[in-house]
Amino acid sequence: MAFEKKTVRDIDVDGKRVLMRVDFNVPLEDGKITDDTRIKAAIPTITYLVDHGAKVVLMSHLGRPKGDGPEPELSLKPAAEKLADLTGFDVTFVDDTYGDKAKKAVDAMEPGQIVVLENVRFDKREKKNDPEIAKKLSELGDIFVLDAFGTAHRAQGSVVGPAAYLPAVAGFLLEKEVDTLTSIFKNPARPFVAIVGGSKVSSKIGVLDHLLDSVDTLIIGGGMAYTFFLAKGYTVGESLQEPDWVEPAKQMMEKAKKNGVKLLLPIDTVVADHYGPDAVGEVVPSSAIPDDRMGMDIGPETAKLYADAIAGAATVFWNGPMGVFEFDQFSDGTRAVAEAVADNEDCTSIIGGGDSVAALNKFALADKMSWISTGGGASMELVEGKELPGVEALQDK
Ligand code: 3PG
Repeated sequence: MAFEKKTVRDIDVDGKRVLMRVDFNVPLEDGKITDDTRIKAAIPTITYLVDHGAKVVLMSHLGRPKGDGPEPELSLKPAAEKLADLTGFDVTFVDDTYGDKAKKAVDAMEPGQIVVLENVRFDKREKKNDPEIAKKLSELGDIFVLDAFGTAHRAQGSVVGPAAYLPAVAGFLLEKEVDTLTSIFKNPARPFVAIVGGSKVSSKIGVLDHLLDSVDTLIIGGGMAYTFFLAKGYTVGESLQEPDWVEPAKQMMEKAKKNGVKLLLPIDTVVADHYGPDAVGEVVPSSAIPDDRMGMDIGPETAKLYADAIAGAATVFWNGPMGVFEFDQFSDGTRAVAEAVADNEDCTSIIGGGDSVAALNKFALADKMSWISTGGGASMELVEGKELPGVEALQDK
């Protein structure tokens, strides 16, 4: 299915003030950006706008400030500087979002120039989607562009608000993300194999449920596997577990059977006697996790089983690690899955954001994937089959 909303291609931006919501919510350490992926991902749309004579006004959130005013460590200044470094464009940062200073800076712009406003969340009305915020922001533009895929699931002031006042279209990143993450469910090349890991069944139940309507094989790993073990009647010792989610896990197993989906769970598990960088792993059958041990990774037999399933896939969707990959001794399972996806060069591999991206970066395999989403929560909501409020607010084609 093609993207059904208008994009920057469908609108004349020449000489116009283009108010664009980006997701520059990047990790920072001591004021330095440690991963600029999200800034890089916004550059194609920014470049298009600059090349087409627009005055580009960028706004974003960064982190989760209290909303009672500026918090210097969450300023967007480093992001504005990074954008200037990466592009060589004329970028001005203004330490204001809704006030006169922002307005003055925008009024003084020439075509091709970029202004980056301060963190939209320094005012708590942003998160409340207060119409006054949307009105104020919309006075800074003639056109609204949403390219903040990572935030498109938030019905917040700068994400959905300006669409009520200005012609509202998508940027290229938003278009590509939505297209990619929805088209795999429309007509995927088969076999379609999904790999879902991470710590909790509770946070991924919607994803699992929706995947079971589409995939041929569903591979489960990470902490959530232990709740599935409970559903199978195993004991899991001190492993992470969600007793309230055993019943839903059982229902997922039944749904898999009903839909003819092969559901793969770890057959062996690496366990340790405590959680920590010095913990020592030991492989046990998944059905025999000792009472005083906790699961830390999938075992080697499971890694082989999963790699074989991935090797035969034509489409792969992956979200969530197979174990505590942050500790090297428990990273083998996640690495085996990452390598299997990378080795299957013929498959379309779509990576939902979050920890699986961190794992791919750790193993230097990110460039082997077909698409890595820049959104965590937003990509999960799309994979659950939900509509994103930011996308909904844009003009239809
Ligand atoms: C993200 O990092 O997932 C997005 O930038 C959204 O951030 P939020 O969860 O603070 O709304």
